[in-house]
Amino acid sequence: CLQEPDIVRCVSLSWSRCQVFIKAKMQSDDKRRAHFQNVLPFPGIKTYVDPDTYEDPTQAVHEFTKEIDPSRIRIERVIGAGEFGEVCSGCLRTPGQKEIPVAIKTLKGGYVEPQRRDFLREASIMGQFDNPNIIRLEGVVTKSRPVMIVVEYMENGSLDSFLRQHDGHFTVVQLVGMLHGVASGMTYLSDLGYVHRDLAARNILVDEGLVCKVSDFGLSRVLEDHPEPAYNTMGDKIPVRWTAPEAITYRKFSSASDVWSFGIVMWEVMSYGERPYWEMSNQDVILSIEEGYRLPVPMDCPGVLHQLMLHCWQKERGQRPHFNSLVSFLDKLIRNPTSLLTLVDNR
Ligand code: ADE
Repeated sequence: CLQEPDIVRCVSLSWSRCQVFIKAKMQSDDKRRAHFQNVLPFPGIKTYVDPDTYEDPTQAVHEFTKEIDPSRIRIERVIGAGEFGEVCSGCLRTPGQKEIPVAIKTLKGGYVEPQRRDFLREASIMGQFDNPNIIRLEGVVTKSRPVMIVVEYMENGSLDSFLRQHDGHFTVVQLVGMLHGVASGMTYLSDLGYVHRDLAARNILVDEGLVCKVSDFGLSRVLEDHPEPAYNTMGDKIPVRWTAPEAITYRKFSSASDVWSFGIVMWEVMSYGERPYWEMSNQDVILSIEEGYRLPVPMDCPGVLHQLMLHCWQKERGQRPHFNSLVSFLDKLIRNPTSLLTLVDNR
């Protein structure tokens, strides 16, 4: 627990440093008292609890998720393949008897305990969040087979493929609206002290009203079966094109490295799902960034948005904007879109 001197120390620190301090303090106070981490250090200030700090991760699942009776779930069709098994769409009967559309992630049979733990880890993380721009967890099925994670259904699927399928179809204000949603969700996460580490358009889901929500909280994917696998010199698998240089080189992941990734998401959105750095190899991307190269302005993208991307890609992480100022900036652009009319002549 935090003691009075810790609280005095926090009062004298900026909020982000205070969160880092609380987190470090909690980690040092450590796993043996993990359940104390759920006692909020300051009333009204919520911090994210890493399920790995529980001696028994099943405890975190009980703490942060609701068990769903499988009779309430109707699976309709397979919509994709997840790391641990199929992803299906279906319906969930709510306690008020209304049916809501859901996506259901399943854990395929024949798993071993560490796989079940990794699978449910994502639910323990998601269950702590409550924000309109973060994918909502409905609950889990752990007491019968198959083990399942049930989340809200997002009609338009992942943002990268959605944009590729609708190349050129949206106004700049609509695209900025999508980015505003992502930045709002990320502000919420960074305020809780949660670092995503894998922010990319493929990990954003889009609903029928074009609302974008951050998803994919299975950090294990960064380390194992990732769609963008590449090793850094330390042997970690990292999605290189989306990752800040300090995170690639010395594992310095932070909300500031998430801001770098957000800049890449901005570029993906404004280029309708183009692959960042095209066919360049990961090694060439790392070397080029080190030499100061940055992605150029996408076609038909207002200069002000490219300037914002470049701001997110500053080498010095302390000089990058925070998510809350990105939200304010994007909000102003949407309310007063005149500055979006100026394009960069990149012929
Ligand atoms: N694919 C993965 N998760 C999904 C979700 N929640 N809704 C729709 N498609 C998805």
